[in-house]
Amino acid sequence: MSINIVRATKEMLKDNIGKILEIDVSVIGEKWAASNFLVDLPGKWEYSTLAFSGDELIGFAIFSYKDPVVHWHRLAVDDSFRRLGIASLMVKAAVNLMRLNKIQTITGKIYKTNAVSRSFCKSAGFSETGESGDNILIQADIAAISL
Ligand SMILES: CC(C)(COP(=O)(O)OP(=O)(O)OC[C@H]1O[C@@H](n2cnc3c(N)ncnc32)[C@H](O)[C@@H]1OP(=O)(O)O)[C@@H](O)C(=O)NCCC(=O)NCCS
Repeated sequence: MSINIVRATKEMLKDNIGKILEIDVSVIGEKWAASNFLVDLPGKWEYSTLAFSGDELIGFAIFSYKDPVVHWHRLAVDDSFRRLGIASLMVKAAVNLMRLNKIQTITGKIYKTNAVSRSFCKSAGFSETGESGDNILIQADIAAISL
């Protein structure tokens, strides 16, 4: 199996939107439509990454820049490809791009009941810093990301 991690472009998301929405069904919490994936945001096409197995899109990690931090919006992997380190590879590639631009902090939020995502974040080096409604707020110092 040959897995490629690439920087996301809007064209790649458009071309693969059907598969992206199929994978996204498994995200617990706020639902996203195609427009959420395709909207332009500062830094989005700089820091977001995608995973492909051959020509097949199998994962996405969506980030944007919210001065002075990078915000993590969405992360999911096709369920046939989970637990193979693919989310780790996508986040690692994104973090490497952030390091080049001297970004120091990533923030995000995850649904409280999303135990898998909480486990992933903990293993990657994120801390849970608070709560907002049904979500846990998470944060990582880029230097502490251990992927
Ligand atoms: C969360 C998610 C993206 C992880 O993707 P993945 O490619 O399977 O993750 P990785 O293989 O890189 O896992 C890295 C580490 O995260 C933790 N982890 C991942 N899946 C886990 C699970 N099912 N149970 C417990 N811990 C888990 C482990 O510590 C794992 O390291 P290990 O395999 O060496 O033990 C994937 O499960 C997913 O798409 N979930 C549904 C969507 C979602 O909830 N997204 C997050 C909210 S936006």
